[in-house]
Amino acid sequence: MSDHYAVIGNPISQTKSPLIHGWYARSCGQTMRYTALEGPLGRFAETVDAFRADGGRGLNVTVPFKMEACAYATTLSERARLAGAVNALKFEGDEVLGENFDGMGLVRDVTHNLGFALRGKRVLLLGAGGAVRGALLPFIHEQPASLTLANRTLSKAVTLAAEVASHATVNACSYEALAGQQFDLVFNATSASLRGELPPVPATAFAPGCLAYELAYGKGLTPFLRLAQASGAGYLADGVGMLAEQAAEAFAWWRGTRPDTQTVIAQLTVPLV
Ligand code: ATR
Repeated sequence: MSDHYAVIGNPISQTKSPLIHGWYARSCGQTMRYTALEGPLGRFAETVDAFRADGGRGLNVTVPFKMEACAYATTLSERARLAGAVNALKFEGDEVLGENFDGMGLVRDVTHNLGFALRGKRVLLLGAGGAVRGALLPFIHEQPASLTLANRTLSKAVTLAAEVASHATVNACSYEALAGQQFDLVFNATSASLRGELPPVPATAFAPGCLAYELAYGKGLTPFLRLAQASGAGYLADGVGMLAEQAAEAFAWWRGTRPDTQTVIAQLTVPLV
């Protein structure tokens, strides 16, 4: 029987992962099965135990199980430990390896697909939830000139900055404190766009020609991207490339070969209108 992988989440009907991994498997000539698994709330460990007992080799993990997956893993990468969240599991005998490829996927999309370096740039991340946790270490490794976290609840940004203080100086601030500052790359990692809301980032934060990146995928021109566009941003992007790249990282981790992501990105791109 072919190796079995799956994405686990709740709800799960919206997932693109089986489609993406199906494309990757075909393009790499790999024989594997990839399905979607709706995990009952409160029964993550039992569901994963059963998947492993059935011969399952690995899982992608999505909302709301990323923290439970972190607890389930027996070995965590440094990225996953800092994120406190796991988005990919690999099963090797009794060992359960936990990884977080979200931030890596984002960095790869920005630097490789979109052609924007983070190195030496002024970078602003909006939010201080799971998405920002996942992005912090990969961003720090790119050595931006400055890295600023702005969050509605300031204490959460301050806590996160303190957690990575041994790696780099991260500026934690309120939205109001962004007045008078400009950034070359601005990332919306809040969940505001999921409800059509706008995080209160000042229009002046967008340096002329900057990249404005919405981590949410497939929402079109969100209020954040609309503001960026009206404020002189030079390039607008959403999270389609991040989605494809984090999946490619997981695929490579499991299968030992990294698929090309361009076809998947082209197929899944929703126009920003
Ligand atoms: P995720 O795992 O997707 O990052 P999360 O952990 O619930 O989700 O975090 C959501 C983030 O979006 C938080 O930083 C939240 O700000 P608070 O910490 O102040 O709650 C932010 N957020 C959600 N709605 C927002 C809005 N309308 N304006 C600004 N920030 C918002």
